[in-house]
Amino acid sequence: FATYTRVNAHFEEYLSQKSRVNKSFSDFPSTRSSSNDSLGTDEGLFERSEPLASNKAVMEKILCQRSLQMLNQQQAWQESPEGKRMLEFRRRLPAYKKKERILSFISMNQVVIISGETGCGKTTQIPQFILESEIDSVRGAACSIICTQPRRISAMSVSERVASERGEKLGESVGYKVRLEGMKGRDTHLLFCTTGILLRRLLADRKLKSVTHVFVDEIHERGMNEDFLLIILKELLPHRPELKLILMSATVDAELFCSYFNGAPAMYIPGFTYPVKTHFLENILEMTGYKLTPYNQIDDCGQERMWKMNKQTPRKRKSQIVSAVEDAIGAADFKAYSPQTQESLSCWNPDCIGFNLIENILCNICENERPGAVLVFMTGWDDISSLKEKLLAHTVLGDPNRVLLLICHGSMASSEQKLIFEEPEDGVRKIVLATNIAETSITINDVVFVLDCGKAKETSYDALNNTPCLLPTWISKVSAQQRRGRAGRVQPGECYHLYPRCVYDAFAEYQLPEILRTPLQSLCLQIKSLRFGSISEFLSRALQSPEVLAVQNAIEYLKIIGALDENENLTILGRYLTMLPMEPKLGKMLILGAIFNCLDPILTVVAGLSVRDPFLTPLDKKDLAEAAKSQFCGAYSDHLALVKAYEGWKDAEMDLGGYEYCWKNFISLQSMKAIDLLRREFICLLKDIGLVDSNTASCNGWSSDVNLIQAVICYGLYPGICSVVHNEKSFSLKTMEDGQVLLYSNSVNARETKIPYPWLVFNEKVKMNSVFLRDSTAVSDSMVLLFGGSLLKGDADNHLKMLGGYLEFFMEPTVAEMYQSIKRELDNFIQSK
Ligand code: CDP
Ligand code: MG
Repeated sequence: FATYTRVNAHFEEYLSQKSRVNKSFSDFPSTRSSSNDSLGTDEGLFERSEPLASNKAVMEKILCQRSLQMLNQQQAWQESPEGKRMLEFRRRLPAYKKKERILSFISMNQVVIISGETGCGKTTQIPQFILESEIDSVRGAACSIICTQPRRISAMSVSERVASERGEKLGESVGYKVRLEGMKGRDTHLLFCTTGILLRRLLADRKLKSVTHVFVDEIHERGMNEDFLLIILKELLPHRPELKLILMSATVDAELFCSYFNGAPAMYIPGFTYPVKTHFLENILEMTGYKLTPYNQIDDCGQERMWKMNKQTPRKRKSQIVSAVEDAIGAADFKAYSPQTQESLSCWNPDCIGFNLIENILCNICENERPGAVLVFMTGWDDISSLKEKLLAHTVLGDPNRVLLLICHGSMASSEQKLIFEEPEDGVRKIVLATNIAETSITINDVVFVLDCGKAKETSYDALNNTPCLLPTWISKVSAQQRRGRAGRVQPGECYHLYPRCVYDAFAEYQLPEILRTPLQSLCLQIKSLRFGSISEFLSRALQSPEVLAVQNAIEYLKIIGALDENENLTILGRYLTMLPMEPKLGKMLILGAIFNCLDPILTVVAGLSVRDPFLTPLDKKDLAEAAKSQFCGAYSDHLALVKAYEGWKDAEMDLGGYEYCWKNFISLQSMKAIDLLRREFICLLKDIGLVDSNTASCNGWSSDVNLIQAVICYGLYPGICSVVHNEKSFSLKTMEDGQVLLYSNSVNARETKIPYPWLVFNEKVKMNSVFLRDSTAVSDSMVLLFGGSLLKGDADNHLKMLGGYLEFFMEPTVAEMYQSIKRELDNFIQSK
């Protein structure tokens, strides 16, 4: 240990050397002095030099010419037959009917709030009105309109729609930008982007110079990024009096936003929807001979049981739905429900969404109902893909001549997205399995039937236990209404809510804003990097401020991982982390992977943690899938198993056998491709911030050193750590905060009876009935001590010194020898403690 502490060159110094040769840092003033900067005091920080007077005149002339060109082009399109037809369509949208009012409303106010039913034309029309009116007044080339979307898929589909309404290709006057992808040209004046992209732009261009209009869309969702953006924009407005801010919402309640923006006016676009016939579970069941009846009794868990199912004599006309109702609903679904206490709703068993019931309703629609697309709201990727698999096996629903089965999910490929909007051939029923993405951000035109499982996967955060949870939870009343509304867009529709009416009555009116229910680490880093001073003070200016404890936890975490120093200033590591658009722990891993020359496997690990689990376990082939996975085990690490699987796929792909490889090994081809894409993006990011040079081979000298990779994983995941306690036959796991914890059954470590390491670091802790760990890697004492900060005292400074020492030490030629001697000393040290 003494040897080791002697070689403690500072990690900060190392990174800071790197940053001196790195351009992107020149934008940042020194960390220490920056903490109190606010928007007002750093004027000119990012300003580019003003053009000389003569250039200015030339510029104006060019702008004028381009604006004229735009005007000519627009007029030509509007007079073409196709353009006329498009205009005809647009004119029928409720937003279009209010065009003039909306335009004058925006021109008269700096901030406005516009609400209107989903599909009334807010997103596609209103930014377009601005663009058109600017072009009409020959200012087209001078305007710059940004419209944010909470999700990448909506930014992409909406921009495509607007471009086609303007008779253009994407990337001309209309473009989009999301992570990994974008279509934006020199003449793009209306840009749809994710909220995250605008936040990143604010890093380099905090006054949004040259932007004339900012639309923040879907504010009713109260996403964290949107709430964050609003704090910044609110502060920016007085400094940019000519900048227009337009907030758009699918729900009418605008008071909160009005008062937040000092009495900004709100406007409502009245819409038109056809009536939707609504069925709740009891109706659905009653139609089929079943009934839900109240059943007041306290069960073993102290929960009030409200329902049991009474089977009645089946009616003569036995509908198709009847057969499978019992296993579809499963008593587990409702036994723990009590309408008085919201919490007890979460006891609902998420595995029983009633696939059979859904299957039967769908089949009934396909066989007996009028034409029209069906939209099924599920909770997430997992249940969407299992349901899809189940439906494909069905004789009617799996028949491509009768049914076009599609999914609509945030991480699907863009080619897949287009299919959702297309009309199927005659006689073919389109069925879309969607997450809550289809609630307000995406409008599928021809939907007539909606099935609503009543749940959405929502990240929540238990500040008391400092544990993030990802659970399917009941949606809000507003969401249920939105889902129902999707059925009445083109003609009268029908909605099947797969839960009883009284469950609906007990739903919360609105969902809790994300900022109040998720961990705040990345947000805190962003606040710091935008130099907004004290995190707590900044967050106290939010629309609704998060709990003090949640903020403290996040700051504490950032200190432990060495991203903030004791005074809450960004460290150099912290600054690097803000430039990587990912969770801090993943960013840390990448940075260290690059520095320690084991980048390749770490790229795979980090990419793997950002996509859904690539190892598939179909229910009916569980054993085969597990056997296939076992060939990737061996290092007591889910992360390394993934690395092996990915490398195998890469090799197979070279021989054009990638698909077969995935099929044989129960690996998701889609995930492999997503990992591939992300790896490439990460390399670009690392190059961009100067940690990797153009020759990535130089970052891979140690890529096959398993111990080193484990250590780097430990560096990223700490303090996500639990100790392994062996007993006679197997082992148990403990964390400091939770006591005993369990592994997900699909972890490679869950199949071991012994783990020859004292610790597991893990990526994620999920609280369900017990606390479960997802994705773990076994690590040794010395790895934890050197890479995980001091376990005895979560001291960030010490941690960095140790790390610095190791860094220096690792670069010595006699590594192996020294490593052995240090390890011995460490072991003694730990034992003595
Ligand atoms: O934003 P809002 O929900 O108010 O509606 P929108 O997204 O602007 O969509 C307005 C209308 O455009 C929808 O009702 C659809 O009929 C149509 N639309 C479309 O056909 N294809 C798209 N990709 C998006 C919208
Ligand atoms: Mg919209």
